[in-house]
Amino acid sequence: MADERAGNRGVAAVLGFVAIGIVIGLIVAAGSATMVEVTNKTEYCVSCHIYDDLYEDYKQTAHYSNTTGFKAGCVDCHLPFDNWWNMVTTKADHGIGAMWKYYIGGVNTPEDLAERREELADSVFEWFQETNSKTCKSCHSPQRWNLDEQSSRAQQAHDGLDEDDGCIGCHRQDAAHPPTD
Ligand code: HEC
Ligand code: HEC
Ligand code: HEC
Ligand code: HEC
Repeated sequence: MADERAGNRGVAAVLGFVAIGIVIGLIVAAGSATMVEVTNKTEYCVSCHIYDDLYEDYKQTAHYSNTTGFKAGCVDCHLPFDNWWNMVTTKADHGIGAMWKYYIGGVNTPEDLAERREELADSVFEWFQETNSKTCKSCHSPQRWNLDEQSSRAQQAHDGLDEDDGCIGCHRQDAAHPPTD
């Protein structure tokens, strides 16, 4: 009896290690240079995210086309590049959650994703609030922008903002895709 219980505990421990190994393996794979390069491309994202006019709308915004020709791709806003670990875990989180939904949960047509859009938009908006819009600030720094050259409305709104302040509360409409509400 005691032997059997010890045996079961042994099996559970081995299974536990295998599960941890798989998760670590996935994270390491997601973090490998090639995987990161391939799966960080806007073309990769829009292979699934083509519902409504998400991609077409994005191409109309200043984040795709502007006077300087500089482009902010999907991951520039959606992945934190402030440190490698943050980037990889955020990526693995979407990878595991979304891939599960896509390949097993049956959320895999543009229509399925469109139906989920409002809820996803709210949760992404929350993420930007919680992180103080840090991905926006990886490009736009309130410490470096030249207020005098901004429009007068922008100057008024931005006066006194610093690196700790968020952006998305006022700029939801500039999210590269129109807000859902
Ligand atoms: C294989 C299909 C697929 C690919 C490729 C893909 N996604 Fe997703 N994405 C999904 C699915 C499915 C969901 C979750 C839908 C749900 O929860 O109902 C999702 C959700 C999201 C969300 C909502 C918040 C979240 O994390 O769940 C964001 C933001 C997002 N994806 C951005 C991206 C970006 C950026 C890329 C490219 C780096 C990308 N996706 C590539 C299928 C994909
Ligand atoms: C300039 C920053 C920025 C860029 C570039 C960007 N996004 Fe977003 N994205 C946001 C913000 C902010 C939200 C939250 C929207 C809201 O609150 O309505 C969002 C929301 C989303 C959502 C949730 C559902 C929805 O429709 O709102 C998905 C999925 C998504 N983005 C995918 C992408 C993909 C794919 C690309 C590239 C084609 C991309 N994003 C480019 C900032 C960006
Ligand atoms: C990869 C760099 C990058 C990221 C990340 C980024 N932006 Fe931008 N943003 C730009 C560039 C480049 C322009 C165009 C500047 C120009 O027209 O000269 C721009 C333009 C804008 C504008 C002016 C819009 C217009 O129509 O002229 C606003 C507002 C803005 N961004 C807010 C944001 C917010 C909010 C976020 C985060 C959700 C964000 N940006 C993320 C690079 C970025
Ligand atoms: C209190 C609200 C508010 C906050 C917070 C805010 N903005 Fe703005 N922003 C505005 C307004 C209002 C404008 C002018 C829009 C217009 O004229 O259509 C603007 C304009 C801009 C522009 C275009 C500049 C120009 O000359 O018109 C950029 C880029 C921008 N904001 C980026 C950011 C970033 C990045 C953050 C976060 C650090 C941020 N904003 C935080 C309200 C805000």
